[in-house]
Amino acid sequence: MKKKLVFATNNAHKLEEVSQIVKDIVDIVSLNDINCHDDIEETGSTLEENALLKSRYINVKYGFDCFADDTGLEVEALNGLPGVYSARYAGNAHDSEANIVKLLNELEGVQNRNARFRTVISLILNGEEYLFEGIISGKIITDRKGNNGFGYDPIFIPEGYYNTFAELGNEIKNKISHRAQATKKLCDFLIKNM
Ligand code: IMP
Repeated sequence: MKKKLVFATNNAHKLEEVSQIVKDIVDIVSLNDINCHDDIEETGSTLEENALLKSRYINVKYGFDCFADDTGLEVEALNGLPGVYSARYAGNAHDSEANIVKLLNELEGVQNRNARFRTVISLILNGEEYLFEGIISGKIITDRKGNNGFGYDPIFIPEGYYNTFAELGNEIKNKISHRAQATKKLCDFLIKNM
């Protein structure tokens, strides 16, 4: 029987992406499944801290082994911003459309469009904490393109491609993305340690 592992997220897109990758190794249990509807605070100053805040919260409150991810879009010309502030870049509303508008405004007329997505996954397994990182480099374009994915996907073209994540769709995104890379590291670890 596969081990059950809580994924501490309320983001349906993240759940779908990660479930596709881990499906042969563990059964993902969502926050909804454990009846957790809390808004877990992300007050850390790094992705690592925020990922740990989320997994620790679930582990302490419910006692389950679990993992959480935190992701940031790091833009070279903005010295790595929005980074850990990616969700609240345009304010506290977690409004992806407003975040995109703000980012495109900040980059208006800026030649250097280099950026990268970075995901950190924290895992708590049998009382021990582990971190896994995934990074994908690419460029921020000037106008949104595509309807798949979520967040900043319509304005990010991964290196080696001509289309945004939102145009490429989940099948390709899930082979190359920041989250896919971190999730594959998580899977390799789980295979060896469960
Ligand atoms: P968090 O990891 O949920 O805190 O996400 C931080 C911000 O980055 C949010 O605005 C998300 O919408 C955005 N984000 C997270 N993962 C992705 C992704 O895979 N593609 C595009 N945007 C993302």
